[in-house]
Amino acid sequence: MYLTSQEESIYEGEYGWAYQVAIKILVRLGELFGATRLIPIRSAHVSGVSYKTLGEAPIDFFEALLEAGARAKVPTTANPSSFDPEYLASMFPDELMEGQSRIIGLYRNMGISPTLTCTPYYIHKPQSEWHLAWAESSASIYANSVLRAWTNRDGAPSALAAALIGKTPNYGLHQPENREAEVLIKVKPALKNKVEVGALGIHVGKLLKDEVPLLEGLYNPTGDQLKQLGAGLATSGMTPMFHYQEQREKRNLETITVEKEDIENTIQSLSTTSEPPDLAFIGCPHCSATEIEEVAQALEGKKLQKETELWVCTSSYVKKMAQKYVEVIENAGGHVLCDTCAVVTWIKRLGFGTLMTNSAKTAYYAPTFNGVDATLAPLETMLKQVTS
Ligand code: F3S
Repeated sequence: MYLTSQEESIYEGEYGWAYQVAIKILVRLGELFGATRLIPIRSAHVSGVSYKTLGEAPIDFFEALLEAGARAKVPTTANPSSFDPEYLASMFPDELMEGQSRIIGLYRNMGISPTLTCTPYYIHKPQSEWHLAWAESSASIYANSVLRAWTNRDGAPSALAAALIGKTPNYGLHQPENREAEVLIKVKPALKNKVEVGALGIHVGKLLKDEVPLLEGLYNPTGDQLKQLGAGLATSGMTPMFHYQEQREKRNLETITVEKEDIENTIQSLSTTSEPPDLAFIGCPHCSATEIEEVAQALEGKKLQKETELWVCTSSYVKKMAQKYVEVIENAGGHVLCDTCAVVTWIKRLGFGTLMTNSAKTAYYAPTFNGVDATLAPLETMLKQVTS
């Protein structure tokens, strides 16, 4: 890989250990994937924030980086943590809270903004063709496919390294030829809601592994539906990007047809219980202001049943923007939580055994990551079941 003289100096350690480690990660990665040089990025998004997922493991490394002067060189945001600052924060023992606060504090001191959300694009929307280094698969696929920015599906170490150097190796989706559709997906059924679109993502993601699909048959999908589609694709497979509106040359593409039964079977397979839920969870990926409004409208004049909690998860930024709808949800007995989600916190520890969600990604992860049974259902069904 070609390095400029300044990059060579960083590589040789002249800018300190932290930057040397960071550039070595990027160069190693670049060499593995055939990059020729490092290119500047406009922003980074780091995953690896939740103390539930990480434990103590990275804390010494983060402390060493900070001590060696590590600071982000580009605007950098961070993924959700394991609790919100109000409701859940009071429920966990001090040592869990302290561990989580240390991780957030270390990131903050490195100049990483504690946005604690998987939808950082609602806070700072990247422009089309900006090069980014975003971890969090649901965010990077949305950035590539809907916002038309250019990012690989970075891992936590490479996104952090890119944040510190302000550059990323020019392989993968930073090259236009790797952004072309490779497979045509003909979607036969007219999908009715976000659950069906998320299930389409899970179904197709399994079939594709890491190819870029062109989906045909989605009619005027909303940004929130595309968010569910991307989250599903990136959960069951490694697909980093999808196309959905181009009328491009399709003749030579391998074609896969998706039938109504494929969607129904996927929804069924993601539902592991028919028991009533202890927890109804909306906001994976974190809600947009429009989604919070939708929940509020559906809850207007209703009350949550005592046996069930409702969590609506988003960023503190979006929560503030949607404040009047947040009040409606809270008046009905629900909780609008920011900085976290049901997957990255300890829901089992809180006594929940069954979870109902409208997110295919959460339903996919909940039985293994959280040890709870899940039901995947549309928003209206969920809210009907948990309100009186
Ligand atoms: Fe975000 Fe949690 Fe889902 S981090 S994408 S809400 S699993």
